[in-house]
Amino acid sequence: MLKRAAVSLLSVLASSLFAGQTPLPSASRTPPLMLGAAWYPEQWPESRWDADLALMQAAHVNFVRVGEFAWSRMEPKEGDYQFQWLEHAIRAAERHHIAVVLGTPTAAPPQWLKQKYPEVIRTLENGQKDTHSDRQEFDWSDPKYRELAADIATRMADQFGHDPNVIAWQIDNEYANASYGPATRRQFDQWLKTKYKTLDNLNARWTTAYWSQTYSDWNQIPIDVKYGNPGLLLNWNQFVSDTWRSYQKVQLDAIRAHAEPRQKITTNMMGWFDGYDHYKVSQGLDFASWDDYVGTGHLDLVRNGAAEDLTRGFLRKNFWVMETQPDFVNWSKDNNSLDKGEVRAMAWHDVGHGAEAVEYWQWRSALNGQEQYHGVLVGADGTPVPLYTEVSQVGAEFAKAAQALAGTTVHSDVAILQDYDSRWAINWQRHNQAFDPVESLLAFYGPVRKLVRSVDVIADTVPLSGYKLVVAPALNVITPEAAANLEAYVRGGGHLVLGQRSGMKDEDNGLWPERQPGPLAAMLGARVEQWYALDKPVPVEGVWGSGEDAIWAEQLAVKSPEAKVLMRYGKSNGWLDGQPAAVTRRVGKGSVTYIGAALNGDAMKSAAQWMIAQSGLQAVMPDVPDDVDVSVRSGGGKQVLILTNYSAQPQTVKLQGSMTDVLKGGQVSQVTLDHYGVAVLEQASR
Ligand code: GLA
Repeated sequence: MLKRAAVSLLSVLASSLFAGQTPLPSASRTPPLMLGAAWYPEQWPESRWDADLALMQAAHVNFVRVGEFAWSRMEPKEGDYQFQWLEHAIRAAERHHIAVVLGTPTAAPPQWLKQKYPEVIRTLENGQKDTHSDRQEFDWSDPKYRELAADIATRMADQFGHDPNVIAWQIDNEYANASYGPATRRQFDQWLKTKYKTLDNLNARWTTAYWSQTYSDWNQIPIDVKYGNPGLLLNWNQFVSDTWRSYQKVQLDAIRAHAEPRQKITTNMMGWFDGYDHYKVSQGLDFASWDDYVGTGHLDLVRNGAAEDLTRGFLRKNFWVMETQPDFVNWSKDNNSLDKGEVRAMAWHDVGHGAEAVEYWQWRSALNGQEQYHGVLVGADGTPVPLYTEVSQVGAEFAKAAQALAGTTVHSDVAILQDYDSRWAINWQRHNQAFDPVESLLAFYGPVRKLVRSVDVIADTVPLSGYKLVVAPALNVITPEAAANLEAYVRGGGHLVLGQRSGMKDEDNGLWPERQPGPLAAMLGARVEQWYALDKPVPVEGVWGSGEDAIWAEQLAVKSPEAKVLMRYGKSNGWLDGQPAAVTRRVGKGSVTYIGAALNGDAMKSAAQWMIAQSGLQAVMPDVPDDVDVSVRSGGGKQVLILTNYSAQPQTVKLQGSMTDVLKGGQVSQVTLDHYGVAVLEQASR
């Protein structure tokens, strides 16, 4: 207490030191579009901060994220809290009109802490303790670690919870590693007890009569994440997710107890990473954010765009890109650079999908440490690298477009469902190693988004009645709750398309006793008769033309006269020859369709066209050239188009009327985009 009072006094003194400086007007601290950089003032002498911040300001950087690995600077010895340097850094940023996102440093506990409290170090799957040379070695379930995490978060929030220049908090950094020690195992048992109440219930629902797995004591239940009972595997991952959520809540509560509500709280997630259920962990956060890295290669519009939409779907509102790569990373197999212009196009692509901020990791190369080869905006010598100019252009453009994009988001008539239980269930038993549930989702996402220009990627339990079309690729696990949600959607007039492997498993990762799509089979009036992991492509033909199915094929059987066959398999393994591959059934004003074949190329494009026509939708800007991406944000009576060109050739897009060219100024009825060119167009007021 005494220490805290002393620190507070110091921070008051420090603030008064800067009292003569012009504070940043609060309205501009969170403009609708923000450009950021990950800044590590603790790695540099204070005398060098100003030069860095001046360069940031010149590049229109309007926020920095600081602190997320700086625990040893904030608390060099137990109980010795040092926040003056951070206070100075926040004030220095403020003098350059740069706001601050504060990261809690719990992803990198200091050495003294790990030495004094070895129990906080996570246990690896092989039972050994993690080593001391990296970050993220803590045990997220450990009560002592949570106490220490709450303490440092409390101290920080006490110091900076009312700081006018702190706009947001990031809890920890990229949650990733679970721990497998005996204490965690006891928590898991307790978690299972709360869920299943009795061992008889658990034994029945996991069918533990199989291989004599029957448990007669809770403490017999192992953590087996390799080849365990599917019920055990699914529950372990759900426990991991709940444990991240409760780990996070400790810090959320600590910050909220001291910080003003205008300081929003997030954590940086990782796109398609499936180490926990992101829908669960997002609950309680004020906004979602993610780290958007290409790694090897170049921007993949479909994979990246869908990951943006996925992140927007966590809380179903705009999000931040909390980290993205300045040209290249250091952790991939081949760390090639993005092309000149590609970083700018990528930033606008993010914004098109609902990003309100794009932050580059990192600002400046640290002289030492594990990431010396990573892309930066300023080299170790403190002078800009070539990309700096391009990022400055992004910053200037964000400032220009902020007004047009204020109050807008992506509104979509189409939802694609994404479900962690299903991904885990399939990934443990792919049956054909090439079957990747994310690829399965992207196979639908690509052609559908190309037609409608905006797609929501969301969970299967959220309200669906606002959508004209809902696509559920590889929705392997359908819980009774999700089944009821999907059935109500169709009966209410919605159009549901189920993809391969859907409706096979229940909430315990057990097989539904009905054939696929399990609880939805009766409504479909058809079922999956058998599935086949393919060793050679199978031809598919029908109303969507002809194509080839290469990885997985489901032979369908029609059970109701109202169910119509849309596609059939051609000659292949004998079992599939001539059998239905896709069926559909009208249900009142809605419909349900099951596609048992993976369609490629033109057949998938025709299927997508059929889906949107069936749902009463029309293609948006159908004449735009293939390599030009179109995103639409709307709100407050405004509609803003964001176009980015990935073709090596200039491309001309004709608009349906006159629009304001937000970046170049003036009214336009067509735009020509160079390679990686960007246009931001606002619907001219009527
Ligand atoms: C992650 C981390 C950062 C940094 C980058 C490098 O996203 O959050 O601290 O290591 O990777 O790409």
